[in-house]
Amino acid sequence: MTTLTLQSEETLVQRLRKQHLVESVEQMSPMYLEGIKRILTVSADTELISAPAYYHAAVHAPTLNNFGSAMSIIQDELGHAHIAYRLMRDLGVDTEHLIFERDPRDFKYPYAFDIPLESWAELIVANAFYDRAGYILLSDVYQSTTFGPWKRALLKVDKEETFHLRHGEQGARKLNQAASGHEALQQAVDWMFLLTVEWFGLPDDLKKHGEQLEYGFKGKSNDQLRQLWLATAVPFCEELGLKVPAHYDQEQRTYAIDCAFPAHFDAQAKHWDGPCTWDEMMKRWKARGPKNEEFVGMIQRGKREMLRLVEQ
Ligand SMILES: [Fe+2]
Ligand SMILES: [Fe+2]
Repeated sequence: MTTLTLQSEETLVQRLRKQHLVESVEQMSPMYLEGIKRILTVSADTELISAPAYYHAAVHAPTLNNFGSAMSIIQDELGHAHIAYRLMRDLGVDTEHLIFERDPRDFKYPYAFDIPLESWAELIVANAFYDRAGYILLSDVYQSTTFGPWKRALLKVDKEETFHLRHGEQGARKLNQAASGHEALQQAVDWMFLLTVEWFGLPDDLKKHGEQLEYGFKGKSNDQLRQLWLATAVPFCEELGLKVPAHYDQEQRTYAIDCAFPAHFDAQAKHWDGPCTWDEMMKRWKARGPKNEEFVGMIQRGKREMLRLVEQ
């Protein structure tokens, strides 16, 4: 193990005031390093888990062409995960441990990915909702981050996320042409809409980790990012005649949620179950959902099998 030499907080702040990007771990303060590792872990884990989560539904693709496009999205996501873990390795993180030996419950991706996508319509809505959330969050990081290597890498990631989002929109328009397709989309939207609204985390007045904004890891707050998502997701659903529990409030000039939020979620029935506190929502997230072990297991299995072969 090499010991890292880090900067003082003062030197780091001076660099940021001059609007110089942080290029390597030697230019970080201990606090900056901890913060960037935290946000990179969330990003890497989210990209990584989307691969088994999307694969679970890709097998229901109605045509070979559809299966092919779903697989190319999965391949993109693995590439995105690789970029983020690779950056963390340069920051001195043991990524082999992080990916292959970490307890599934300690992964930091959004709760939504623990709920299985079980049909082509659910995968399409995931592209339209989840990839839209990913696109909005990463565009914000791209514009604001002070960590140079990540900023440059996100140029490619952002373009691919746009493709995933369009795949969801085009796929939904196509399904919507038939009454049965419309019905399947509505059923998916009914449980997936609020899971994506809560994806953006605690409201600004309850949020911890202020360094994400202070260090320019992110530019916009949770509530601002949630609003950005609503501002395109709600009109898209309206275009397809899909009912969502949100509307634009002309007076407040923001999107308002029309149902209990935050709310209890019955993960087995994929059903929202009345209001809860933010604390209760965080507890649900921390406990993880039904597919956490299985999806992380799919990722960790290959390495375990390889090690067993080597030991024989
Ligand atoms: Fe991605
Ligand atoms: Fe994506």
